[in-house]
Amino acid sequence: MGRERVSFFCSECGHESGNWLGRCPGCSGWNTFREAPVKRAGYPPGVAHGTRTASLMAGHPPELLVGAVLTRDERLPTHSGEMDRVLGGGIVPGSVILLGGDPGIGKSTLLLQLAAAVGNGPGMVLYVSGEESRQQVQMRAGRLGISCDHLYFSSEADLDRLQSALESVAPALVIIDSIQTMSHPGLPMLPGSIGQLRECTAELVRLAKLENFSCFLIGHVTKDGALAGPRVLEHMVDTVLSFEGDSHQNLRLLRAVKNRFGATNEIAVFTMGERGLEEVANPSALFLDGRAVDIPGSVVVVALEGTRPVLVEVQALVCPTVFGAPRRATTGVDYNRVVLTAAVLEKRAGLNLANQDIYVSVVGGLRVVEPAVDLGVALALASNFRNIPVDAGTVVLGEIGLTGEVRAVGQVEQRIREAVRLGFRRFILPERNLDVSSRYPDLEVIGVKTVREALDKAL
Ligand code: TYD
Ligand code: MG
Repeated sequence: MGRERVSFFCSECGHESGNWLGRCPGCSGWNTFREAPVKRAGYPPGVAHGTRTASLMAGHPPELLVGAVLTRDERLPTHSGEMDRVLGGGIVPGSVILLGGDPGIGKSTLLLQLAAAVGNGPGMVLYVSGEESRQQVQMRAGRLGISCDHLYFSSEADLDRLQSALESVAPALVIIDSIQTMSHPGLPMLPGSIGQLRECTAELVRLAKLENFSCFLIGHVTKDGALAGPRVLEHMVDTVLSFEGDSHQNLRLLRAVKNRFGATNEIAVFTMGERGLEEVANPSALFLDGRAVDIPGSVVVVALEGTRPVLVEVQALVCPTVFGAPRRATTGVDYNRVVLTAAVLEKRAGLNLANQDIYVSVVGGLRVVEPAVDLGVALALASNFRNIPVDAGTVVLGEIGLTGEVRAVGQVEQRIREAVRLGFRRFILPERNLDVSSRYPDLEVIGVKTVREALDKAL
């Protein structure tokens, strides 16, 4: 430790080795190993391999943690209720936030709008784009109707030169669009390679903590939706946000995947319109918009997204298998839970689904993974199978166990309140949740113990 030694690294993926290797064990590339004198400090391998990024506060003496005066705790408001909630109440100064999402989903638009909102406050904002020219960003800003004195633009992709831009602007917020275009001058690899991503992120994290600016990094995602680059990026940053949606629909969901300063699984809902992204304050109404009533196979459930209850419609289609093995397909709900629910219906409620194809989807593009929607899925399936509609003003809640029992769900009161707000008056709930509903005497609340009982009462 601490001594100079020659090591080798892969110029493609940054994999390190004490010896030169013909083929990289990390990325399987041939002849990609280069020699590099690396001064080793005492930090674990795989975190960062330059001395610049070894520690945030190298050379500082240890400080008292508890009892020491906390210098700041105020967050930078984003002036967007949705964004603030996802971040846990505004942007923490010095934090680094990685935003991932499919191409064209609206990452640049979201962050340009955020930059303008923050730039209208007292702090400076620096928007760094290696992907688009100033004219392009300016055009987008014009389209979004942005006018802001505190918003600076730079197309600097070189980290060293970016530092002088940072010094001249002294921003409170920096936006890097995207981290894949940044390059660390000390490294021979191409921008976007794993080694570069790792080093650039580490350096930006270091700078953000040192200079106390907040930093958003836009990250590309791979075809299957994972953030491109090593997983280590997600460990290095404070918050990971994922921007999702269907590019055919104008609905966009911003989700916190990791958050050191707030709850994860919070979502923000936006719609993409002519003038950029607009917040949706009442997503339940949006998800239930245009719902066909009294159609067999449609059930309304309340899913909890983070701390917020959201009403969604679950639709199921059950039809005889024409050829081969029965198909089960899901969109927006967990595939395995649907298969399990179908098995429980078969065994405990006597529905003969073995020779039926099953399709279940959540309307509106939301992804619901909570077990609390199990009973809703079961009723949607049974309703379509028996061709009897579930009453359109009914909300269904409950988790299903393998014995066919309906288990209690959490935060029932919150869910009921949200449903009542949208005009629902009839509830099918687990019997164990009935105590909560006694506080709402003017509602029709039906408690059920088993799936069979739920089917009898609902259909
Ligand atoms: P963009 O922010 O460039 O996406 P990303 O940075 O994630 O690749 O947004 C691209 C899409 O958004 C594009 O198809 C056009 C659409 N859009 C609107 O519909 N309205 C708008 O006001 C803006 C700026 C973009
Ligand atoms: Mg973009």
